[in-house]
Amino acid sequence: MIKIAPSVLACDFNNLKKEITLINRTKCQYIHCDIMDGNFVPNISFGSDIVKSINKYSKKKLDVHLMIKNVDKYVNDFAKAGADIITFHIEAEKNPIKIIKKIKRKGIKCGIAIKPKTRLNSISKILRLVDLVLIMTVEPGFGGQKFLYSQLKKISELKKIIEDKSLDIDIEVDGGINSNTAKKCVKAGANVLVAGSYIFKHPKNKYNERIEKLRK
Ligand code: DX5
Ligand code: ZN
Repeated sequence: MIKIAPSVLACDFNNLKKEITLINRTKCQYIHCDIMDGNFVPNISFGSDIVKSINKYSKKKLDVHLMIKNVDKYVNDFAKAGADIITFHIEAEKNPIKIIKKIKRKGIKCGIAIKPKTRLNSISKILRLVDLVLIMTVEPGFGGQKFLYSQLKKISELKKIIEDKSLDIDIEVDGGINSNTAKKCVKAGANVLVAGSYIFKHPKNKYNERIEKLRK
């Protein structure tokens, strides 16, 4: 089943409660929370207090994408804030297994994210430990960027590895996802689609229509 994860980075933060209420009424599965520290990526977004506010009203699972360094220091805060999935970047951590175990010990699903220039073999040893691989289809840091078609090959290679090893792992794609690029990603093997601008930068009463278009 194709899961859709609207990224609130693109939402109207002046009306956060209303935006979450509108998303609750759509057929998406997750709410994607992009956490940026201005260090791992050249942008600062929001922290665990905002995730806690989102969690207060959300009826969807919270898919927290950490684009930060010092992941170990913040896992507890995002777990307490209500994260259902915590995904961190392989490029940010020397000891990813320690972080994965810490997240899993809290009964939270764990994802590993890789930037466009990072090769798949950087995560091959930890695939068995995670629930999800997030393949960035833009350089992380900002919404509204152009989709990187070069990542389609990475998606299909990962899909083949997962099938060959009979692993039960979701492939999430993130960045520049719209009705065209979504189709290409699903064909390559992705089953979780993150979308920010394609959903939120459109009339508020069209959110579900945009979400359904991604799934087609
Ligand atoms: C980028 C974030 C993405 C981004 C998606 O660093 O990880 O989730 O918000 O935004 P769009 O869908 O507008 O490319
Ligand atoms: Zn993201």
